[in-house]
Amino acid sequence: MDTPPDTLNPRSRRVLRRSMRAPKMRGLVVLPASQEHPKPRPRPGAPDPVSPQTVPDGRSVSESATEMTQLVLPQHANVHGSVLGGTVMHWVDLAAAIVANRHSRRPVVTAAFDEMSFLAPIQVGQVALIHARMTLVDRSSMEIRVDVQSEDVLTGERRKTGTAYVTFVALDPVTRRPSPVPPLVLETDEHRAEHARATERRRLRLEHRKTRKDN
Ligand SMILES: CC(C)(COP(=O)(O)OP(=O)(O)OC[C@H]1O[C@@H](n2cnc3c(N)ncnc32)[C@H](O)[C@@H]1OP(=O)(O)O)[C@@H](O)C(=O)NCCC(=O)NCCS
Repeated sequence: MDTPPDTLNPRSRRVLRRSMRAPKMRGLVVLPASQEHPKPRPRPGAPDPVSPQTVPDGRSVSESATEMTQLVLPQHANVHGSVLGGTVMHWVDLAAAIVANRHSRRPVVTAAFDEMSFLAPIQVGQVALIHARMTLVDRSSMEIRVDVQSEDVLTGERRKTGTAYVTFVALDPVTRRPSPVPPLVLETDEHRAEHARATERRRLRLEHRKTRKDN
């Protein structure tokens, strides 16, 4: 076809004529500018992929729960041959961060680390088991409970060595400001009881934060 058919209206004839003059390449149809596929534009009201509207209705405790296992090596030890407290806190922070990331699917930062007691040492050669799970979710903040146990790999004996409550805040990946997170779905009585205790801990923590800010 050298000329556009007469049945076309003048505008379509012009477009078709231009496209017939366009460079021809094997396997490639070059469309005139007027016929190019438009770039996909977000529909009005459609959620931005990183905006708060895309947060799901909720995530359960089990969806983000994390268990970390760490063999205690000589480089983790203090002068007594057991793991350094600071190293355990590092592992606790990491396990809690994974829970916060899994729940929010956002970058997260540690906002607060409640007191942590070390009930028993974990010796070099033993395994540290770090269980972390979400206990409370507010707007952008999340409280994660982290339980630490030691395991003797030869006997299998496990011992509770400590518990910590860590608060993480989810950030918007672009603005780096606190960003809303999905609500927490509480599926068991144990989760509901822990959530009730966490609500009280959060109240005290925020009171404490306010006092520290004021002084
Ligand atoms: C945590 C941080 C993001 C909070 O920012 P901010 O400007 O104070 O923001 P806001 O006051 O709006 O607080 C945001 C949320 O954090 C919570 N929060 C902040 N500090 C807190 C604390 N000490 N304890 C508990 N929650 C805290 C607020 O209650 C709020 O929760 P909500 O959104 O669920 O209601 C900011 O202080 C920060 O970046 N800190 C440094 C974090 C860091 O470097 N951590 C170590 C390395 S990861």
